Amino acid sequence: MFNDELHTMTLSEDGSYTAYSKEYEEHYHSTRDGALKESLVKHVEPTFKIKQNQDEINILDICFGLGFNSLATLYYYKKESLKTKINIYSPELDASLVKSLQNFTYPEEFEEFKHIVEAICRDGFYKDENFYIEVFLGDAREYVKKFENRFDIVYQDAFSPSSNPLLWTQEYFSDIKCSMKSDGVLSTYSIALATRLALYENGFSIYINSGEDFRDATIASTSKLTTFKEVDMPHKISCNPDAQPLRD
Ligand SMILES: C[S@@+](CC[C@H](N)C(=O)[O-])C[C@H]1O[C@@H](n2cnc3c(N)ncnc32)[C@H](O)[C@@H]1O
Repeated sequence: MFNDELHTMTLSEDGSYTAYSKEYEEHYHSTRDGALKESLVKHVEPTFKIKQNQDEINILDICFGLGFNSLATLYYYKKESLKTKINIYSPELDASLVKSLQNFTYPEEFEEFKHIVEAICRDGFYKDENFYIEVFLGDAREYVKKFENRFDIVYQDAFSPSSNPLLWTQEYFSDIKCSMKSDGVLSTYSIALATRLALYENGFSIYINSGEDFRDATIASTSKLTTFKEVDMPHKISCNPDAQPLRD
């Protein structure tokens, strides 16, 4: 059984299961958008639209949780017949959650990755000729400091700024920026002005990731993107002069 005193499996709108955390009092995904759909439309598809023609893609997946963003990346890779080599680095504080994932009910789209979930539960990593996935059991704040100029893509998918503020501060995004390549892109479900300010004050440009059937999300990049509509941050700031990013 996946359910324990801290986690309960919950059905989300797209028919895939997510989980509820009693510790953070929050779901791991938007139950309204759906767990699988949220991973695909808010993280994997918009970032791969920009990066998928590279020979190798390095991804920082903050945080592993149920592993949807990493698994949705593999699903997208197979669906689109990509040839790129993919390396995913993912911190996760909750070691017992990772160990219990072989009991989680994943959507059928992930069925062919069962052996990958098992390897991650058992060894903390998976490797074959195309993929490397490493799950670091520990604090994301410490983990990201190990990398410099490495990541093409960052999936920023922590619990919300109100329940896990240390993974949304201006200082945290400064370390994230150092870990990224100069043309790297970051995806997040958060559209909060405080989040966008924390990114903007670190030199990121802010873009809207919108679609007809999901709630708006954010793409951030230090290089200019033409495929997304840019948020006019100076205008937002002038309309909200008291808005501040979170700080450590
Ligand atoms: C919203 S969930 C991640 C969902 C995940 N991306 C998925 O697709 O299933 C947030 C995760 O962050 C983890 N977490 C919280 N604080 C952390 C920290 N400081 N370092 C690493 N992981 C952390 C929680 O244990 C939880 O699994």
